[in-house]
Amino acid sequence: MVHGVPETIVRVRVPAKINLALGVGPVGDDGFHPLATVFHAISLYDEIIAEPALPGRFLVETTGVPASADLDGDDHLSVRAAKTLAQAYGDTSLGVALSVRKAIPVAGGMAGGSADAAGALVACAELWNLDVSPDDLAEIGATLGSDVPFGLLGGTAVGTGRGERLAPALTRGSYHWVIAFAWGGLSTPEVYARFDRLAADQDIVHPEVPPDVLTALAAGDARALGAALSNDLQAAALDLRPELRATLEAGLELGAVGAVVSGSGPTCAFLAADESAAIDLSTALPQSAACSGVRRVTGPVPGARLVG
Ligand code: C5P
Repeated sequence: MVHGVPETIVRVRVPAKINLALGVGPVGDDGFHPLATVFHAISLYDEIIAEPALPGRFLVETTGVPASADLDGDDHLSVRAAKTLAQAYGDTSLGVALSVRKAIPVAGGMAGGSADAAGALVACAELWNLDVSPDDLAEIGATLGSDVPFGLLGGTAVGTGRGERLAPALTRGSYHWVIAFAWGGLSTPEVYARFDRLAADQDIVHPEVPPDVLTALAAGDARALGAALSNDLQAAALDLRPELRATLEAGLELGAVGAVVSGSGPTCAFLAADESAAIDLSTALPQSAACSGVRRVTGPVPGARLVG
């Protein structure tokens, strides 16, 4: 306990995302690509625990992944989130000790870093008892990373701009997914750079969300959704990690109704027709695909939320 600071612990659970569609346009002057995407939050969560710390102290400890200076230093997106929130809404007496329990892979294409930032924003707003609206949090989140606003919102949402402009999508029912984790990660800027190189001699148009994805979601039709999954970054991710092609093919051969690289990869997402098909797929996939592990999840789920 920090002397003179009431003992309070705030816990927040925040989901990973996959992209059901990811349309990418030509890179802009700001170095970002215009997107037309459908984000989908799945039941794979990081947990952020926030406890009081001395004024001006912003600490983070990460568990669940191998130790790394990047993950425990001032550059950790959750620390940047806490500091940005304190500067915008708080005063100099604020401080926080964050614990990040990771289940979302680092550099996996599932917005794990953004999830931690979103979780830290919600946790610190509660810990510090700040009068900050969800829209205010999303605005701060967008300055930290393109996927942070979706980490706050969750569910299924159309994302435009850099991915930070969100509109909830009309969806019916719940979908059963099997997620295949890869050995090692992929750098998002590197995947976008490879996208640019592969697209160099093509006429890249401004992206739009494919209507068949939205129609399938509104109908709650897993097979139609599986057929409609798309990702403009997939070719770049496969170019950098050719072995992912075999992973995607293995999942489809084992009965997945759709398979797609998640965001910038290398995690792959497989849609199953129903829960029992997902159980079968999650059992069989590790034997057929070169992945570091699989997880059965459902979506959509809510964004960053207080626990307990
Ligand atoms: O916004 P975020 O920090 O997640 O972006 C990481 C990197 O991914 C950016 O620096 C940029 O290279 C790339 N990016 C992009 N277009 C987007 C989102 C991200 O080129 N819409």
